[in-house]
Amino acid sequence: MLIVSEEDIKVAIDPNELISAIEKAYIIQDKATTNIPDRMHLDNNENTLLLMPGFIESVFGTKLVSLFPKNTSENKPVLYGVMVLNEAKTGEPLALINGNKLTAMRTGAVGATAVKYLAPFSVKTLGIIGAGVQAYHQALLISNVRPFQKLIICDKNISKAEVIKDDLQNKLQNIEIIVTDNSNQTVIDSDVIVTATSSYDPVFDIDLEKLENKYFFAIGSYKPDMQEIPLSVYKKVDKVYVDTLHAKEECGDIKIPLEKGLIKNENIVPFSTVITSGELLEQASLCLFKSVGMSLFDLTVAELIYNSAKEKGLGQEVKI
Ligand SMILES: NC(=O)c1ccc[n+]([C@@H]2O[C@H](COP(=O)([O-])OP(=O)(O)OC[C@H]3O[C@@H](n4cnc5c(N)ncnc54)[C@H](O)[C@@H]3O)[C@@H](O)[C@H]2O)c1
Repeated sequence: MLIVSEEDIKVAIDPNELISAIEKAYIIQDKATTNIPDRMHLDNNENTLLLMPGFIESVFGTKLVSLFPKNTSENKPVLYGVMVLNEAKTGEPLALINGNKLTAMRTGAVGATAVKYLAPFSVKTLGIIGAGVQAYHQALLISNVRPFQKLIICDKNISKAEVIKDDLQNKLQNIEIIVTDNSNQTVIDSDVIVTATSSYDPVFDIDLEKLENKYFFAIGSYKPDMQEIPLSVYKKVDKVYVDTLHAKEECGDIKIPLEKGLIKNENIVPFSTVITSGELLEQASLCLFKSVGMSLFDLTVAELIYNSAKEKGLGQEVKI
């Protein structure tokens, strides 16, 4: 069994391969050979354990993710994870992969894929609300698909934004990066906005007329009572794209506006239909994509990491 660390993952794959692995996941999402159950949520007080199993034709696997919101005060990541990848014919375990890095990179690639298909080439400013682990990877991956001139990193705790700014500036040398704790101004000044917080309440509140030509990618809310996007946004969007329809039960950002009649069931659209239709989308003046995350992404990306690690001699082979 190959043990694949965070450092191995960094060396193993590049952004374009990652985005292709996410596109592949959308293409096989509805195929009979793909078996992806809704993930299991096990809540324990404020903490959550997510069990994310799934099968695709060539491999199967399970990602175990813990979400401990109070870790922030301990200066530790909110999210820890490990992924076990198995060979599909025999069930033989192939790899144990660092799930934190896998999750952050695949979620960054999900964001990049959404921007690639939904946002026009004219977008200039990327704004990210929440400056944690996901924000850092969203910035790295999304900046591959559009030539952004400016990146605004916003966090209610501005020192968190300052922490990731320097590292990002080294990697994204052609982009001006600024930090702020003003989320409303971040939305006003940005074309593409990622919300990557663990907030229970909407993370901004601006007038409807300031919401023209904005492309939102919301990744935070993972429980029915968690929201990042204010309800006013749903009065203006025609369709809301989701990576999985499970969002209707699991995420406040879909469940609450649905229950309040602010969006219709038929207007919640699986993003896979965009990828597989091959048609150019009519440019919406306001666009919202809510990502829940699913084991299908972990599987296609884990398979890519495993194959690349084997090819490049990365990781540590152990007998278990
Ligand atoms: N959709 C997916 O596939 C997916 C994948 C991984 C993580 N997530 C979710 O993304 C969220 C962020 O994850 P992370 O690992 O980056 O967490 P993190 O704790 O590292 O970062 C979150 C940041 O958001 C900031 N924040 C919280 N509320 C805010 C607000 N109202 N305004 C501005 N900033 C605020 C916090 O100060 C913190 O710096 C979590 O909810 C996590 O579960 C989703």
